[in-house]
Amino acid sequence: MTEKTAKRGDRVFYGRRRGRPLRAGMQALLDEVLPDRALSTANLAPDSLDPAELFAPPVARHWLEIGFGGGEHLSAQLAANPDVGTIGCEPFLNGVASLLRHVEEDVGSFDRVRVVADDARPLVDALKPGTLDRIFVLHPDPWPKKRHHFRRIIQTGSIARFHTLLRPGGELRIATDDIGYLRWILARVTAHPGFRWTARGPRDWKDRPEDWPETRYEAKGRQQGRPPTYLRFTRV
Ligand SMILES: C[S@@+](CC[C@H](N)C(=O)[O-])C[C@H]1O[C@@H](n2cnc3c(N)ncnc32)[C@H](O)[C@@H]1O
Repeated sequence: MTEKTAKRGDRVFYGRRRGRPLRAGMQALLDEVLPDRALSTANLAPDSLDPAELFAPPVARHWLEIGFGGGEHLSAQLAANPDVGTIGCEPFLNGVASLLRHVEEDVGSFDRVRVVADDARPLVDALKPGTLDRIFVLHPDPWPKKRHHFRRIIQTGSIARFHTLLRPGGELRIATDDIGYLRWILARVTAHPGFRWTARGPRDWKDRPEDWPETRYEAKGRQQGRPPTYLRFTRV
């Protein structure tokens, strides 16, 4: 479906799937390494996929990162948390290759990642409720024009679904450097009675927490004078 024929609310992915041509080594990661870690969301029934079934050997905690970009944050978190398995979703294939390069370099992380090289939304539908310990949505595309707001990944419905997927005490982490999107996100998450914003004061959303590795997009934004806001919400 093209953008012109898409209606509001249709499940259309509006971002890029490919960037500049991949070097041979990166293409080889997609051809030879991705099949081992890839997770297909085709033919999955709603509420059926238990992340505990995706990792061998089993892991104690199950995380989801939506739109991992180049995978800097995802791979650093895996290296720092040896009891975690993460499902990463990213439709941009150059980013998927970049993540694979990062996790290949760290043997201990490789078995603890599963990759959906596609839109996260079918996966979010397919996951079993109450099975995730953490969800990350870091610098989601802000779609600043009002007529494009329906494309934003953070919507009242997606917040409700994240709440359903998290275990009690689980955490939703969101970052953005776009003030309009920040207001939008805060309005929607704080309106949900099942989430508690953990910040007590400005330092809690202005200073990057120690256990929150910097992403590539974040570093670029900071250089260009767009400091990020770090949001942490607990499922009560
Ligand atoms: C602005 S970039 C941020 C990337 C990364 N999180 C970072 O901070 O460097 C937004 C990312 O979200 C991805 N994205 C957009 N829509 C998505 C969707 N429906 N499912 C999964 N990823 C998505 C894009 O491909 C892009 O890589």
